[in-house]
Amino acid sequence: MEFLKGAYSMLPHKFRGGRDPAEQAVLSTKTVVSVLCAACSLQEGAGVPDLPNHGLSPPVYPSPPGSGSTNGRWTTAYDRARDLVSQMTVEERVNITQGWPGICVGNTGEVPRLGIPALCFADGPSGIRGQEFVSAFPAGIHVAATFDRDLMYRYGRALGDEFHGKGINVALGPVAGPLGRVAKGGRNWEGLSNDPYLAGAGMGAVTRGIQDAGVIATPKHWLLNEQEFRRRWTELGDAVSANVDDRTLHELYAFPFMDALREGAGAVMCSYQRTNHSYACQNSKLLNGVLKTELGFEGFVVSDWDGQMSGVASANAGLDLVMPRAGFWGDNLAEAVRNGSVSEERLGDMAIRILAPWHYLHQHTAYPPPAIYTNTQKHFPVDVQADHARLIEEIGAAGTVLVKNVNNTLPFKKPKFLCVYGYGAALKASPWQNRDRYGGGYEDNFGWNTFNGTLITAGGSGGSSPPYVVSPFQALQERVAQDRGILRWDFYSEDPTPYVNADACLVFINAYASESFDRPSLKDDFSDRLVLNVASWCANTIVVVHSAGIRTVDAWIAHPNVTATLFAGLPGQEAGHSLASVLYGDVNPTGRLPYTVARSESDYGDLLNPTTSSDPFPEANFTEGLFIDYRYFDKHSITPQFEFGFGLSYTSFAYADLSVSKTTTTTTTTDLAEFPDKNVRIVQGGHPALWEVVALAKCTVTNTGAVDGAEIAQLYVSIPGGDSPVRQLRGFAKVGPLVPGQEREVVFELTRRDLSVWDVVVQDWRLRRGVYEIWVGASSRDLRLKGELEVR
Ligand code: BGC
Repeated sequence: MEFLKGAYSMLPHKFRGGRDPAEQAVLSTKTVVSVLCAACSLQEGAGVPDLPNHGLSPPVYPSPPGSGSTNGRWTTAYDRARDLVSQMTVEERVNITQGWPGICVGNTGEVPRLGIPALCFADGPSGIRGQEFVSAFPAGIHVAATFDRDLMYRYGRALGDEFHGKGINVALGPVAGPLGRVAKGGRNWEGLSNDPYLAGAGMGAVTRGIQDAGVIATPKHWLLNEQEFRRRWTELGDAVSANVDDRTLHELYAFPFMDALREGAGAVMCSYQRTNHSYACQNSKLLNGVLKTELGFEGFVVSDWDGQMSGVASANAGLDLVMPRAGFWGDNLAEAVRNGSVSEERLGDMAIRILAPWHYLHQHTAYPPPAIYTNTQKHFPVDVQADHARLIEEIGAAGTVLVKNVNNTLPFKKPKFLCVYGYGAALKASPWQNRDRYGGGYEDNFGWNTFNGTLITAGGSGGSSPPYVVSPFQALQERVAQDRGILRWDFYSEDPTPYVNADACLVFINAYASESFDRPSLKDDFSDRLVLNVASWCANTIVVVHSAGIRTVDAWIAHPNVTATLFAGLPGQEAGHSLASVLYGDVNPTGRLPYTVARSESDYGDLLNPTTSSDPFPEANFTEGLFIDYRYFDKHSITPQFEFGFGLSYTSFAYADLSVSKTTTTTTTTDLAEFPDKNVRIVQGGHPALWEVVALAKCTVTNTGAVDGAEIAQLYVSIPGGDSPVRQLRGFAKVGPLVPGQEREVVFELTRRDLSVWDVVVQDWRLRRGVYEIWVGASSRDLRLKGELEVR
């Protein structure tokens, strides 16, 4: 694993799984028309399960031109973009639809005579990667664990301010693909949880934050990039085909992207793998159909890096910009327009779609030039960190999940003697040969590797480049010094020497993951033995897990000497301070698990591993449909170790008085239309009626414990019909902080989308007739109140 991670991070970006440019050159656009267009049309999948449209990618042509009709701001942006594009030659239009070598991870072509600059694209979702004087924010999964919309927005805004400060036009995030179907998925940690509603809340808030700072957000990867294994074309054959039925595609995987689109996302990145047998960046159903027609997308679709697999086919299927180089386009695209394989309108639409978000975000007026540097350049760095460290510390603490705490072990009460164990507690000395001021991330600059050093981010393009890292050891030292206590440590041994007088022993373990490979395991033996060895003599063993996703804990969680356990996620540069504030009770934990921790790996069943195959056309059949993570556990009555939405507080809460009511009622038999009104125009984000609040649920939450604290109240819905998940998250709210005895009313707004299913026959969102069960509680399994909503 360590070898793989190291190998990945040492590869120059362009070679990370990319196609050989020479090979691309020989495949001209015309060749591609005949060879690859079959891939964009209707195809039957082998062994297709009995699910509607499973494995099918119906052709959707022509590509719908962007209209700018979503709202006045888009209309103005489109007017300006159209005006510019009308003045451009075919060559100039082609030039801005392709990447060029430059200082950024991606650079578009420029048209100086019209004042159109090269747009600068940069990774990634949790901070600007590979630059100096930038912040390392918590990863997406950590932000999701806060269940806090306000923090999600402030995260996006701070990220956006940093991209803006560095003159980066386009931020390559946020992530909702992978969603997290496969427990061992290598990139699940980049995204905002495997629940589409929670991820959607994050996608919307982060997109709004980034774009409020004037930067174009790029929700990615559209769509179904659920595993790293064979995510790309290789010498073995085609990339894996993620085969999914139409309902699941909409209700699970497209769902969180809808929120980002609703908030005005200016770009969307299509993914590497095939979806229903057609490469995602040339899949007309996904791009022309779902994204640009159903969801009214006004912006541009950019390919994942070297993810373009055809020329004419991708152009006609709805791809607007190829990165990081011309790929199959460039001169070939100009030729295809001249010979009619791609229409002039389509090329014009690509250029308009690229320039419209640039105007929508007012980047055409005054935008700082890119301040992106390499090791060979001398410069005065632009410092964009501002006071983001405080926000990072706050989110770091808010996303830390306390899952075990017996005998009030935590919070600490001025302990005098702490022992600190495990590789995850501190930073490792930086090995000179790997140091790199730019280009590298945490792995290179902090000498971090799989089992050495505090895990604050994970690997690949989603990783961050911290200015510094406050390790747990550093933060604990600060606290112990204040309390005039003592500290002993051993970061290396698997079986450390006992200190029998310690008040508590903290054991720090990690679970790493990275882009480009899936996780070999959800646990590791060294770490499990380390915990058991310490627990064998230390009666107050506290385990802290920094993990890039699920980490199973069956080896030691029930040990009587393991008195407390925290899932500390991937908290970013202030890791130690965030953790210490929870351990010492300055922050009463509100973090909740954004995934299900099973009692054993095998409980995930077919959702544990990616689909591995050496077949030239590998297939991953998503036969579980809507039933991933807690929906799978609920459906099959599997008891988890710690369920989705679970997390402890230092206080307790009582729930009461649930009422559920419709916001619109009539005296007729049909009180809410089954389908959105067909005569209303689709805008970006989908039919406007999907976002209308159709019902309210209200209850009270009371702090019944002895200390101040906030609760994360969660609302789950059972949709009638017997073919939906037992329960689905459809609301959450941070309530408080409340002082002991204090009560507060919580109001959950339920939109039409929250209560609808995707009707595969009508091809629209349908509000089912019948009785909806509404559950409110503290997790997906700790349900305290039940109500009903009848839709007639
Ligand atoms: C990743 C993208 C990333 C791009 C640019 C690709 O390998 O899949 O998420 O934005 O590289 O670095």
